Amino acid sequence: MTATFTFFGGKGGVGKTTVSSAYALECAESGLETLVVSTDPAHSTADVFDQEFGDEPRPVEGYDGLSALEIDPEQEVQDHLLDLRKQLNAQLSATMVNEVELQLEMAHQTPGAYEAALFDRFVDVMQRADDYDRVVFDTSPTGSTLRLLALPDLLERWIDRLADKRERSIDLYEKAAIGNQEPRRVMEGDPILARLQGRKERFAFAGETLRENAAFYLVLNPDELSVRETARSIESLEEADLPVRGLVVNRLTPEPESHEDGRGATYLRERVATERDRLERIEREFDAPTVGTIETRVEEVKGEFLADVADDLEIAVGE
Ligand SMILES: Nc1ncnc2c1ncn2[C@@H]1O[C@H](COP(=O)(O)OP(=O)(O)O)[C@@H](O)[C@H]1O
Ligand SMILES: [Mg+2]
Repeated sequence: MTATFTFFGGKGGVGKTTVSSAYALECAESGLETLVVSTDPAHSTADVFDQEFGDEPRPVEGYDGLSALEIDPEQEVQDHLLDLRKQLNAQLSATMVNEVELQLEMAHQTPGAYEAALFDRFVDVMQRADDYDRVVFDTSPTGSTLRLLALPDLLERWIDRLADKRERSIDLYEKAAIGNQEPRRVMEGDPILARLQGRKERFAFAGETLRENAAFYLVLNPDELSVRETARSIESLEEADLPVRGLVVNRLTPEPESHEDGRGATYLRERVATERDRLERIEREFDAPTVGTIETRVEEVKGEFLADVADDLEIAVGE
């Protein structure tokens, strides 16, 4: 199977996990083998479906054709560093290792490390998605990660230059030490070059898959902050050649019945009017169409209520 990928981006708390779970459920119900990937340990698919999920896909009980996978970004950063350290230890002297350890520790503190490690895991999931028709992510790559997609071109040039330089120095070495085959072996199995080449292929795959087999949606709430954040996300996705296919506006205030009056009803009507203005602004300012408007429910959206939320989405599952 060739899977297609759907990403729901947006800032924390706007409803990405809720919307992506609802959409994944709709995909599964329409007969697509679907995997939903959650990344937020605070509120995740586990809460939505009242089941524990882990680092590998697991079937969601009670829903045919639906599996879930939870990525713990903190754990990913740890594993990433551990892996890097192992590779470096094999290549560097003891004093250098200490220096590098220090640098790695510091790198771990930067927000970029978190995002990069998470993205790395996304690429893994995309590379191993053959069992699914559809994979739904409850977050989308942002700023610094998106810039990584330009990496293959950059790496290409580095690799060529580095390979060229190494070849020349190895040639010289061989002329000086005729009969010694060691240098040739060093060139062929050059770990640094191999690593760069591996990274290049990985990011080239990611860029291609995201551009050809993925759709990006942004979830937002009808408030000023969320609208501004959406403008920024649209921009950074478009810079990476990834157009936003639609916007989902979540947490709209329900309108009271016309016969209702009193303080509560007045308040709700005023809020509804404010949000209506904001919705109009969203439609006017953004090229991406609004593909869903979801009212605020009385409680957290879980289990049977997911189908109800999915009904408010106008995203065709075939897309
Ligand atoms: N339309 C809604 N009505 C009621 N509660 C909602 C709605 N959308 C989201 N929530 C609740 O808001 C909280 C945050 O939503 P979530 O989907 O986890 O956001 P995100 O993934 O963007 O951080 C959750 O407790 C969720 O159940
Ligand atoms: Mg979430």
